[in-house]
Amino acid sequence: MKRGERTQVAIIGSGPAGLLLGRLLTQAGIDNVIVERKSKEYVLSRIRAGVLEEGSARILDEAGVGERMRREGLVHHGFDIAHFGERHRIDLSALTGGKAVLVYGQTEITQDLMDRSEADGAPTVYEAEDVAISGFETGQPEITYRKGGEETVFQADFIAGCDGFHGVCRQSVPEEAMFLAERIYPAGWLGLLSDTPPVSDELVYICHERGFALCSMRSPTRSRYYIQCGPDEDASHWSDERFWEELKLRLDPEMAESLVTGPSIEKSVAPLRSFVAEPMRFGRLFLAGDAAHIVPPTGAKGLNLAIGDVFYLAEGMIEYFRKGTESGIDAYSERALRRIWQAERFSWWMTSLLHLFPERGRFGRRLQEAELAYLVRSEAARAALAESYVGLPL
Ligand code: APR
Ligand code: PHB
Repeated sequence: MKRGERTQVAIIGSGPAGLLLGRLLTQAGIDNVIVERKSKEYVLSRIRAGVLEEGSARILDEAGVGERMRREGLVHHGFDIAHFGERHRIDLSALTGGKAVLVYGQTEITQDLMDRSEADGAPTVYEAEDVAISGFETGQPEITYRKGGEETVFQADFIAGCDGFHGVCRQSVPEEAMFLAERIYPAGWLGLLSDTPPVSDELVYICHERGFALCSMRSPTRSRYYIQCGPDEDASHWSDERFWEELKLRLDPEMAESLVTGPSIEKSVAPLRSFVAEPMRFGRLFLAGDAAHIVPPTGAKGLNLAIGDVFYLAEGMIEYFRKGTESGIDAYSERALRRIWQAERFSWWMTSLLHLFPERGRFGRRLQEAELAYLVRSEAARAALAESYVGLPL
């Protein structure tokens, strides 16, 4: 067993949460090590939503990783909702006093953070196997992992569990110490990425008799499409042709006509789940990002929540190491959860608004139609949607 050097913060996971936390701590002169079970290439191969709230983009600017995002990101001032053959624009900027969102893929954010981490010479252990954590309740946090056949153990003042929904950190907390709230939706999203021009300049969320669809993008030449499918759908059962034909059936005739199809770069199914683990702190272990919560992707909140958690956690840790005071880390969980539950509510609402859930029955279907009609008729309803979509203040 090799004894690794002690560090101030051990970060488990090098997704957006772990990488951003590592960068913010390094920027503040706080030693940290990221321990990631997958390879860098694997982490970068994940295709995830890429709609950034203005607050999230500002945090990335302040972390010194915003240059390419600002150069290549697409500023969107609105999006469309299509249902019953009509398309209605949600004018985000008009409804929120000028706010907008930035369309910039999560893969690109991860790449920018990894590049910055390398430039900082920040230590990251990739392909770490059998990562385990202990001692976080007794004030002696310890991390072990195996790499290249060699066991390593090291200590830290804090452990940041940024290891996602299936990570080891939340699993290391006795279940009776947590309040777990979950809703699993009877649907999934079959997503396709293609180097084809987007069918529309802005995102189009579609509520259709055959199911939900979303027309999104990564750039003016790279599109991202989703269609609602069964929760256990297997992407390998969907040829590109089958996907494009089903998507066209959910588009209005004009969009179906103008849709440019092409070979898929990536195709995958994502489950729809709402999940929150409370609290987000256990002694010297802090959970952040998907390790603590999951939202259905409809509201594009997953990445923004991860960034928000890390903003609060980094602020608390920096205060602790610089001033020796604990108010920031003590307030972390409650502060983060207030924002998380607002995003959980919005993501659940937007998912319910736009998806076809036959289980809801006729009354549920009529309620959904009434909700959509109210949105079309009421500027106040659209303003409420826009306020959440552009993001609540940090
Ligand atoms: N040991 C080390 N690393 C682990 C372990 C483990 N036991 N388990 C998981 N990991 C790694 C994963 O390989 C992944 O790289 O932790 C990382 C978690 O990253 P994400 O799942 O991306 O979670 P997060 O950083 O919170 O970002 C949330 O990512 O999944 C999307 O939709 C989500 O947009 C949201 C964002
Ligand atoms: C995406 O582009 O992947 C995306 C955009 C908006 C969403 C979900 C996913 O609400």
